[in-house]
Amino acid sequence: MPEYRIEATGATLGAVVTGGRLADLDEAGFELLLDAFHEHALLIFPDQHLEPEQQVAFARRFGEIEHLYGDSGVVPISNQRHDGSLLDDDNPAMQIMIGNEGWHTDSSYMSLAAKASVLSAQVVPGRGGQTEWADMRAAYEALDEETRERIAVLSARHSLRHSQAKIGHTDPGAMLYGFEGGDPPLRPLVKLHPVTGRPSLFIGRHAYGIPGLSSEASESLLAGLLDFACRPPRIWRHDWQPGDLVIWDNRCLLHRARPYDHTEPRVMRHTRIAGDEATEWAPGLADTA
Ligand code: SIN
Repeated sequence: MPEYRIEATGATLGAVVTGGRLADLDEAGFELLLDAFHEHALLIFPDQHLEPEQQVAFARRFGEIEHLYGDSGVVPISNQRHDGSLLDDDNPAMQIMIGNEGWHTDSSYMSLAAKASVLSAQVVPGRGGQTEWADMRAAYEALDEETRERIAVLSARHSLRHSQAKIGHTDPGAMLYGFEGGDPPLRPLVKLHPVTGRPSLFIGRHAYGIPGLSSEASESLLAGLLDFACRPPRIWRHDWQPGDLVIWDNRCLLHRARPYDHTEPRVMRHTRIAGDEATEWAPGLADTA
């Protein structure tokens, strides 16, 4: 087994893992990484240069691959077309990527929220375009007792249609994923991690409309929690190099892309691992009426 070196970032989340090739990961190596994943919630693997199938094979070890909008298991997060031309900012796919610059957790707007996500860098811009993560376990621990008691009984709806409309994007184009009709799922503000049992805040840009609160009070509570949560030492930023790969735990972290100059290409590959029905499924509003 290769000697994986797992070095904590110094923030409350994240570790950088060196010394092994993920393409050659064996069962013993995977067990080590799985423990580190549950402890640090974000693992950064520099210089891996995996092929798309190798990225999917790595992700598959953590669970079922979520069906996004294709069967390959790899979704481009890219402002560049195959012919090399760049997308305009008003392109629907670009609007989704601009939306990704707000703190969020993946697929919380679907009935089955994501367990984890894998992201790798192919082409990176000269400046900006980093990814940041925020630790919602540490954020929950840092809350005062009164706030913890207040939010313990609250839930919020999660909707991509809603979060995109807030930034002026109402036309999903051909990409309907997350824009399907139906009732947005209702999710508790505090989530217990199914493996570690640690509580964390389950919020982000897709969350809105806390039942029992006015929309203003709901917006103010969610914005206040987000502002409190996403601060040092609970955040970590990764400056990408081509070939880097990361995996993070959507059940207890938020993440966001950082802005960059859209006249430069930024090409990333994304693979999303589905949550478990027992712990990441949330009924729509109609189911709870
Ligand atoms: C994402 O929001 O899933 C992608 C983040 C990024 O592009 O850095």
